[in-house]
Amino acid sequence: MCGIVGYVGDRNAFPILVNGLKRLEYRGYDSSGVALAQNGEITLYKKQGMVKAMEEFALAGDTSGSTGIAHTRWATHGQPSDKNAHPHVSNSGNLVLVHNGIIENYQALKELLQDNGFEFHSETDTEVLVNFIQFIQDQEHCKLRKAVRIALTQVTGAYAICIYDKNKPEEVVVAKLGSPLVVGLGINEKFIGSDATPFLEYTKDAIYLEDGEMATLTAKGEIDIRLIESDRAVNTQAHKLQMDLESIEKGGYDYFMMKEIYEQPRAIYDSFRGRLLAEQGIIKMSGLEEYADRFRNADRIIMTACGTSWHSALVAEYLFEEFARIPVEVEYGSEFRYRNPIIHKNDVVIAISQSGETADTLAAIKMAKEAGAMVFGICNVPGSTIARETHAGAYTHAGPEIGVASTKAFTSQVTVLTMMALELGKIRGEFSTSQYRALLNELSVIPKKVEKVLESKELVKEISALYKDASNVLYLGRGVNFPIALEGALKLKEISYIHAEGYPAAEMKHGPIALIDENMPVIVVAPNAGHYEKLVSNVQEVKARHGKVIAVVTEGDTEIVQSADHVIEIPETLEALTPLLTVIPLQLLSYYIAVMRGCDVDRPRNLAKSVTVE
Ligand code: G6P
Repeated sequence: MCGIVGYVGDRNAFPILVNGLKRLEYRGYDSSGVALAQNGEITLYKKQGMVKAMEEFALAGDTSGSTGIAHTRWATHGQPSDKNAHPHVSNSGNLVLVHNGIIENYQALKELLQDNGFEFHSETDTEVLVNFIQFIQDQEHCKLRKAVRIALTQVTGAYAICIYDKNKPEEVVVAKLGSPLVVGLGINEKFIGSDATPFLEYTKDAIYLEDGEMATLTAKGEIDIRLIESDRAVNTQAHKLQMDLESIEKGGYDYFMMKEIYEQPRAIYDSFRGRLLAEQGIIKMSGLEEYADRFRNADRIIMTACGTSWHSALVAEYLFEEFARIPVEVEYGSEFRYRNPIIHKNDVVIAISQSGETADTLAAIKMAKEAGAMVFGICNVPGSTIARETHAGAYTHAGPEIGVASTKAFTSQVTVLTMMALELGKIRGEFSTSQYRALLNELSVIPKKVEKVLESKELVKEISALYKDASNVLYLGRGVNFPIALEGALKLKEISYIHAEGYPAAEMKHGPIALIDENMPVIVVAPNAGHYEKLVSNVQEVKARHGKVIAVVTEGDTEIVQSADHVIEIPETLEALTPLLTVIPLQLLSYYIAVMRGCDVDRPRNLAKSVTVE
């Protein structure tokens, strides 16, 4: 986890670094810090809390300097505190380092350093690394670049680092293994970021470092990229960034989460634009076409993901089995990687990840590739590690998602997976043309229907006010809307800190029904398509025990509307596409409840947007 930013050039580094950190707060925000090169000295500002706290603290002092490195932290080794915040300085006082990742052998290295007289002032693995680099430099009497290289060959774990020497601040060294790192190339200046957002307003030319690479950066010189292992020079072309600044700013909304909820009609549209050609009655997905034979002949599809992305895989499981008649297994990346799974060469693995950086999903991919499976990635962040590590894939094109609680990334993942299920059904001959076309046409009008659901905002707000003080909430759904119950519960717990559970509605009788009393709100996802009558009975069962029912139903509902305490309507659609509509009121509900409880919706406690540690 954590975000890193760096700058070397002619400008004042501090505002660039601080604004960059604010954009990277989705990666962690329990403490932050900046190191500035000032007249041969390192000026350090570090503070527990969000970047703003550190910024205010620093602004009381001298923030000059045109080389600097900075960090926003999500604690792994050592609790959030000023002293554990990065940057960390070596014992000599010469080297200063920021790090994103985990040094797994840090304990052994720490003992070695302690035996050689080094002292430590924090509990972090990063302080060990900066001192280990210094130790190597002292022994080898070499340049910083060489010391970094030798040290990293002896380190196990994951890292993106950024380091400079106070005696030569015009040169910054960066390296990457397992955590992301991007270099922005300006005119007479270089930028560094965990992603490209910290420097978007300055340059669109960027180099994404690959695993096992390091680079030496100066303001004016060519970037020197080398392999850490062999010191061999690497020739890498710069990318032209497609993102724009407006898309990462709040655009008048109080929180990014709300902006992103409202962006869903556009995000869903963008995820099928150019792919779903409704008039011609076809779907064109180049990644899928390229591997059409592998998909056609697949014995099984394994989907792997974490968090909300895992929920979109669960939705897809229903759709792939229904339309393409391929057996699907859905696996948490973390479970899959450690349980010696059986993977055959004829299996196709689909990895789903908004960020494309989730460590467990990435490890699952590596394992599947080693076993010979074809791995298809569905990611939102272009150029992300998962996008690069997979054989083929499809971007979701939802645009940057900043709010920690995933919303538009989820619906765009479901859109892409739905298109894949339809296309595979066609490739495998499981579909009548009319069925295929009907689904295609209906998917093409889903953005309009999402807009319609968003009009229920005020109603959802009123309902939220009634239930904002609940201690527990139960979410029920069936079939393709069971994963939506899970997703609704996850949204509520992650941003409002209310305990919530999602259940397949019929399973309520095997446990959760014991919890129901007049204080228990039960959210029932009950569109008219699919298992509706069964859900009517489930609602009766809740009401018979005096539970409060909030139901998501289809317009014109006649039965549930009579017994539920509140109903929120979605437009009529085909059963397979209902998740794209039913999830919207649940996102709004969790948003309003969290805001009414005074929670920081975009930065819930203890969470991070992108979990790059296992
Ligand atoms: C974190 C985020 C979730 C996200 C999950 C998986 O837990 O808070 O919103 O669903 O990681 O992330 P990914 O980027 O792989 O989809």
